[in-house]
Amino acid sequence: MTSIAISVDDSFQRMRDKLEAEKLRPHHAMDRYFYRSHLVHEQELEHLIFKSWIYALHASEIPSAGDYQLVEIGEDSIIVARTKTGEITAMHNICRHRGARVCEEASGNKRTFVCPYHGWVYNIDGSLKAARETHVMLDFNAAEHGLKPVNCVTYMGLVFINCDLGAGDLIASLENIREPLGAYDLENAKVAQRKTYRVAANWKLALENYLECYHCATSHRAYAKMHTLKDLEVKSAPVVSKMLDRADKITGIRGISKEHTQIYLDAPSFGACAHTMRYGLFDGFVTGSQDGQPVAPLMGKIKDYDGGAGDFQMGPLTFMLNYPDHCVLYRFIPRSLTETDMELVWFVNGEAVEGEDYNLEKVTWLWHHTTLEDEYIITRNAAGVNSRFFEPGPYHPEFEFTLQQFVHWYLHTLEASLPSTRKWLAGGTAVSTISTEHYKN
Ligand code: FES
Ligand SMILES: [Fe+2]
Repeated sequence: MTSIAISVDDSFQRMRDKLEAEKLRPHHAMDRYFYRSHLVHEQELEHLIFKSWIYALHASEIPSAGDYQLVEIGEDSIIVARTKTGEITAMHNICRHRGARVCEEASGNKRTFVCPYHGWVYNIDGSLKAARETHVMLDFNAAEHGLKPVNCVTYMGLVFINCDLGAGDLIASLENIREPLGAYDLENAKVAQRKTYRVAANWKLALENYLECYHCATSHRAYAKMHTLKDLEVKSAPVVSKMLDRADKITGIRGISKEHTQIYLDAPSFGACAHTMRYGLFDGFVTGSQDGQPVAPLMGKIKDYDGGAGDFQMGPLTFMLNYPDHCVLYRFIPRSLTETDMELVWFVNGEAVEGEDYNLEKVTWLWHHTTLEDEYIITRNAAGVNSRFFEPGPYHPEFEFTLQQFVHWYLHTLEASLPSTRKWLAGGTAVSTISTEHYKN
């Protein structure tokens, strides 16, 4: 079923009215307008998506000088490459002459990027190496015509990009989750599999689905059997506290169960979200596999299964589900108003050999099937939300709490992006003076 999302008769005034209406109906799902408007989508790309830190790849996927991969966000393409000096860098895949893409293949190894249109040649670091016949253009300065840079940082082998060159410090945020994330030694981990699930829904519906586990008991039978996150805290607390008491000792990692949450409006700088918590698996289950039994050698320096799993968020769109013997990274990327890429990356211990130490199907079973189940409910959700008869209902205060944090941040960011608001801000301070309280009440 393909949903057609169209919102005709659109304007910034309409968007402003819709945002005002949200303030009058707190704790409720958002109006369908925010999932259907092309104007909203354009504002999101400009002021939210391209200002956010987004996971690009694992450093081991581009090990040698000249290795690169493309990351597709919206209609854009970004090159992430390993330079001659060994650094990882990112740049827009747009020729500085008349804008053709300079690289078509999704990944590979190159000495240079040669634009297929008029043959300008770029070094792997993006600098312009040669531009045909430009010697007759006396004021032409090659140094000013390198591929436009994209912000790029690497943390524990995870490479993040941000199209905003003035973006806040993601690494400083991630330092707060160093101990629990470090337990898995992701820097030396191996990418066992990467898979993209294209879902026919606006990106917010896909992300919102990830941010709540109210649906887990009804939609994810296999997951719900073993994970406590689908239960109210009062019910899951005894299992979790028993696990937390033993976690440090059994895993051998001090601080593996540290908690830290600074996400969305609470992030120290725009989009530099960082979150970690350790939660319990029910008795008899030790990892996120079909039967809850081990599927690969233990990650990093973890000594044994403690019956727990790590929940992580890095930036607004990237998450990790870390079990003692494998980790699953989850990334959401809008591709159009009605299409979203959900990318999953499965990591195993860097020393593990497929076929000997692990069976790939067993490692990927749970989250592959859970994602297919999500794909099903997200597309049904999109179909209903797109209907003129959809009337937003109330969020669950506990199960849909994190989802509401996202919605508050989203609405606030959208409001701050509106032209008149921005003019008002320009005369004042660089910091947004719009009250975030409206969306928190
Ligand atoms: S557009 Fe690339 S060389 Fe002309
Ligand atoms: Fe789900």
